[in-house]
Amino acid sequence: MRLAVIADVHGNDLALEAVLSDIERLGVTDIVNLGDTVSGVLNAARTADILMARNIPTVRGNHDRWLVQKHPDAMGVWDRPAWAELATQHLNWLANLPATVTPQAGVLLCHANPVDDTTYWLHQPSSDGRMQLASSAHIEALAQQCEARLMLCGHTHLAGLVRLADGRSVLNPGSVGCQAYRDDEPFSHTVESGSPEARYAVLHLGEHDIDVSFRVVAYDHMRMARLAELRGDAEWAEALATGRLR
Ligand SMILES: [Fe+2]
Repeated sequence: MRLAVIADVHGNDLALEAVLSDIERLGVTDIVNLGDTVSGVLNAARTADILMARNIPTVRGNHDRWLVQKHPDAMGVWDRPAWAELATQHLNWLANLPATVTPQAGVLLCHANPVDDTTYWLHQPSSDGRMQLASSAHIEALAQQCEARLMLCGHTHLAGLVRLADGRSVLNPGSVGCQAYRDDEPFSHTVESGSPEARYAVLHLGEHDIDVSFRVVAYDHMRMARLAELRGDAEWAEALATGRLR
């Protein structure tokens, strides 16, 4: 079967629509969403509306959780603007999302990893604050409690596929809506895909093997960069315009 995997849409409805069109053009009908769907300075409510209408199997990201667990005063600069846009039905949808989903036997959906929704899995910041492939020991440790042959995760916004020692696979499709960001946890670092296009993945799941296409989809990213600028977030604007941060 073929499966389209989207993650980290972060309220970028234009990127989401471009990706959904690409999926349709490829004739893929099964889609899964790995969370962090609405948080950010863009169009949270419209993004939620698009995905809610499609009933796509979706897991809860850390930002999705914070949007329903935190008081607005305690929210960060990504979550507060999204929260202000969302209606009760959107928040109820987020509140009811599961942390993990098994859409079919042997496949696990999670946000950051199968254990928690914040610990980076396939990539980690190095001492210079740039992201690099995580050690085998780190990746294997987080897969230990999980029996799926294919584990799908998001959260780092970086596409990648890692094969475990026992032959199982961990895949991150990259981010649909946010190609670069800075974070202070566990220490200051920058994540960049390097270009503004939306990312996702299409998998062909055979009985014994997995064929993966990482997709890079152009959309009107400058329109979203201008929207971020209009809303006073220069960092989001730069990330949307270039996929990098100076
Ligand atoms: Fe996340």
